[in-house]
Amino acid sequence: MTTTSIDSAANRSVNDQIVADPSASCDVELAEGPWIFDLVPGYGPGCSEDDVIPEPVVRPGQLPVEYQKMSDDELHARIRAAKEKLGERVVILGHFYQRDEVVQYADFVGDSFQLANAALTKPDAETIVFCGVHFMAETADILARPEQHVILPNLAAGCSMADMADEESVEAAWEELTEIYGDEPDADGKQPIVPVTYMNSSAALKAFCGRHGGIVCTSSNASTVLEWAFERGQRVLFFPDQHLGRNTAKAMGIPLEQMPTWNPRRPLGGNREDRLQEAKVLLWHGFCSVHKRFTVAQIEKARADHPGVKVIVHPEAPMPVVDAADAFGSTDKIRRFVAASEPGDVIAIGTEINMVNRLAAEYPDRTVFCLDPVVCPCSTMYRIHPGYLAWVLDGLVEGEVRNQIVVDADVARDAKVALERMLAALPKGA
Ligand code: 13P
Ligand code: SF4
Repeated sequence: MTTTSIDSAANRSVNDQIVADPSASCDVELAEGPWIFDLVPGYGPGCSEDDVIPEPVVRPGQLPVEYQKMSDDELHARIRAAKEKLGERVVILGHFYQRDEVVQYADFVGDSFQLANAALTKPDAETIVFCGVHFMAETADILARPEQHVILPNLAAGCSMADMADEESVEAAWEELTEIYGDEPDADGKQPIVPVTYMNSSAALKAFCGRHGGIVCTSSNASTVLEWAFERGQRVLFFPDQHLGRNTAKAMGIPLEQMPTWNPRRPLGGNREDRLQEAKVLLWHGFCSVHKRFTVAQIEKARADHPGVKVIVHPEAPMPVVDAADAFGSTDKIRRFVAASEPGDVIAIGTEINMVNRLAAEYPDRTVFCLDPVVCPCSTMYRIHPGYLAWVLDGLVEGEVRNQIVVDADVARDAKVALERMLAALPKGA
């Protein structure tokens, strides 16, 4: 179990900076409480606000007004008191991208692979409060014991990338591909195509992978998972993040010509059939709006301004950015990269701002900064505000489970197959 326990001494509120100077951020509305936006369509203020929000995305009920009006001090006092009362009955998980005001209460902080494991390590806790986004809480519900409840403090905390692949479009793509490749294994017993879904996807798509001999991956074990898939199949359908798929497959030596992009809105994904016959990895046309912001020009500027700077980016960044960086990896790899650096080093990071600012605060003897000069958090993670955390914890104290995430039993059964395959595929170097 490699999940990191939070060192509260290292916490400094980066959101204070966002609130204090909204003009330096990508959206002045970041200074507002997220409940202002929770009922309107869209992903809220921040870098992904222009993404088209698909119809079925859950909209939450409103946070009770009394919680909206509470001062920060009162909210924090309530969270501490409820946590104290609930003790071992509740475990709080926090993703690296959460705001510090929330992450300080997490019993485990980690990347999505670590948090999926962390959900398994507390079988005695009655409730898992997941301070992350919707697909992470769904995964925890699938892996948790049936008696355990999983709570997502704000149901509007989705992931715009996960929403770019829906079950209907993936089923339609699968049908087209089965017509082209057939469904019989070759002479070596390899299936024509193996579906691989990134953890950032709905439970329904994880279940699709479970039913079709496929697997889930995270950014930390994507290459192990692709190796697993190629042991069983001739080619892979990878969704929803084209960049993670492309960056990982390229690092494994697969030529770009054999990685066509699959656009679900076009026949054959927008490809010619002869190109598909040669394909090794079909990349769904999805992306993360936060990581799409990183550019080669930012890396060039960082190198010009700070000779000797080391650059590390998340593999959700576009391929030219990953190629121009010194290293790429999951959020936990980025954390370990900074931890392994020397005092005096200068490190430029291409990932979400809350995490970068936390690392900068944790290692004050190094210069750690974000490649993107504009403060722009993941706008969906940002929706987990201390107000929501206080409200759901108070609910538990009163015996009420608020904002529970429940995955349908049939979906959970198939999704668990794909998730368990993933949990066995350890990240390289873990
Ligand atoms: P990690 O798996 O690296 O934690 O990333 C999750 C995520 O959503 C990155 O945008
Ligand atoms: Fe989704 Fe991007 Fe936010 Fe990660 S950073 S949760 S991929 S929107």
